[in-house]
Amino acid sequence: MPTPRSSSLGICGRRRSRFIFPLHDDALALSTAASRLPLQATYSSSASSHRWKRRQHADHFVQESKEQGLLSRAAFKLIEIDEKHKLFKPAQTVIDLGFSPGSWTQVVVDRTAPNGKVIGVDIQPTRPPEGATAVHGDFLRADTLERLRVHIASLNARGAAQNESPSLSDSLAHSVENSVDVVLSDMLMNTSGVAFRDHSRSMDLSHAAYAFALQTLKPGGSFVCKFLTGQEDKLLESLLRKGFAVVKRLKPEASRRESRENYFVCLKRRHGVSKNEVYNDDMAG
Ligand SMILES: C[S@@+](CC[C@H](N)C(=O)[O-])C[C@H]1O[C@@H](n2cnc3c(N)ncnc32)[C@H](O)[C@@H]1O
Repeated sequence: MPTPRSSSLGICGRRRSRFIFPLHDDALALSTAASRLPLQATYSSSASSHRWKRRQHADHFVQESKEQGLLSRAAFKLIEIDEKHKLFKPAQTVIDLGFSPGSWTQVVVDRTAPNGKVIGVDIQPTRPPEGATAVHGDFLRADTLERLRVHIASLNARGAAQNESPSLSDSLAHSVENSVDVVLSDMLMNTSGVAFRDHSRSMDLSHAAYAFALQTLKPGGSFVCKFLTGQEDKLLESLLRKGFAVVKRLKPEASRRESRENYFVCLKRRHGVSKNEVYNDDMAG
């Protein structure tokens, strides 16, 4: 199994000076509200805070992410997935859904250079890492999706862009079909502790990300999606198999054992299979 110390992880050292943002830990990244607060304010003076600090101290992924200038230990999940499945190549277009604080985006920018186009989407107004652009908003909202489509179309049209361009016409937005190489979704909302509710909300995010992937991925493209395990994940898996020739479940080493978090890694997007075919209209939304 790869570890963060492997020399093949790719991101080590090569572009360290670009990773200039304050470091976050993975647990902090999971909490949309907490991630705006300083560490001390968020995790102070409780027994769980001390347990959390001890765990962080002992966590070699946290140490390694700090040493490498990565924004979160979550980077090592994507690094492991890419080591196993070779998702990224130079000059690809990659959409990173739920990118904040940005460690996956850092990995993607590094591995798609030169000429990669990397767009992060998050409900939080986080500045994207250098080399990426961002669309901010709730991915479950139609207006966010529309701004994302327009943003992709603008990158496609101009070859490179620094800012969102919401004024582009609808017809330009259609050019996003078959234009994306990889869609990633690490989206997760604040969990409630109620397993079924958290699972259902994670399924909502996963289905929305998959529907978007079906509308934008090139034939042969890849989709990686975080989900919380539960009774509906088999349905999602069966729908993923309609759209991709290869679908695998993966629990990366950096994913905490006690968490229900898991990933679908989907490769070789089938040519010509539409969102409506996969969802049979009644689930298309
Ligand atoms: C686990 S964090 C992602 C960590 C990130 N991959 C990294 O490596 O830094 C999950 C992110 O999903 C975002 N998120 C959750 N629900 C969302 C939604 N409906 N729309 C957009 N972003 C969402 C959260 O704001 C949070 O930043």
